[in-house]
Amino acid sequence: MAEDNYVLQRSSEAERLRRQGRLVENMTRPLLEKIGLCPGMSCLDIGCGPGEAMRLMGEMVGDTGTVVGIDIDGTAGRSGMDRLRAEIECNFQFIEQDLSGSNPLPQGPFDLVFGRLVLIHLPDPIAMLRKMYAVTKPGGVILVQDYNGTSFDIQPRPKLDFGGLGGCQAA
Ligand SMILES: C[S@@+](CC[C@H](N)C(=O)[O-])C[C@H]1O[C@@H](n2cnc3c(N)ncnc32)[C@H](O)[C@@H]1O
Repeated sequence: MAEDNYVLQRSSEAERLRRQGRLVENMTRPLLEKIGLCPGMSCLDIGCGPGEAMRLMGEMVGDTGTVVGIDIDGTAGRSGMDRLRAEIECNFQFIEQDLSGSNPLPQGPFDLVFGRLVLIHLPDPIAMLRKMYAVTKPGGVILVQDYNGTSFDIQPRPKLDFGGLGGCQAA
């Protein structure tokens, strides 16, 4: 598995993501329906993890459609694909790739380019959005579900008027 700075524990992460995927399914499925994802279409899921969003896409595009997932975690991605292929008739593909690198995304072009809870992990999310745009079909859709940092808060508020670190003292 590639080395990276992902802050969550890799060992239990795939199972956590599968459970989380089921929890947030009711936020993702209606959006996929709303954009009109249909049999035969092609999708790219960046930062797919073990593939729970790919599962929803696969169910909707069916055996004439394609769903490609990319993740730095090859172990989770490959075992996720084995599961999906056993359960759903669709052309699933997985690419192990560090999205923070300069490698381009697979060319596609795709009807849907999707990323859920992944841009927040990337050092340059705007650059990633540009890459996503480059591989989206004209008339296709880029769909991102991520945290909005402006709505975060901490209670109780941390006291910031503690006078600083006191400056450097000569030894
Ligand atoms: C919170 S999980 C979301 C997984 C999936 N999108 C979902 O919603 O179930 C974030 C995913 O981004 C992947 N990731 C984080 N940094 C990455 C990077 N630099 N390149 C590729 N994937 C990365 C992690 O391995 C992980 O699978």
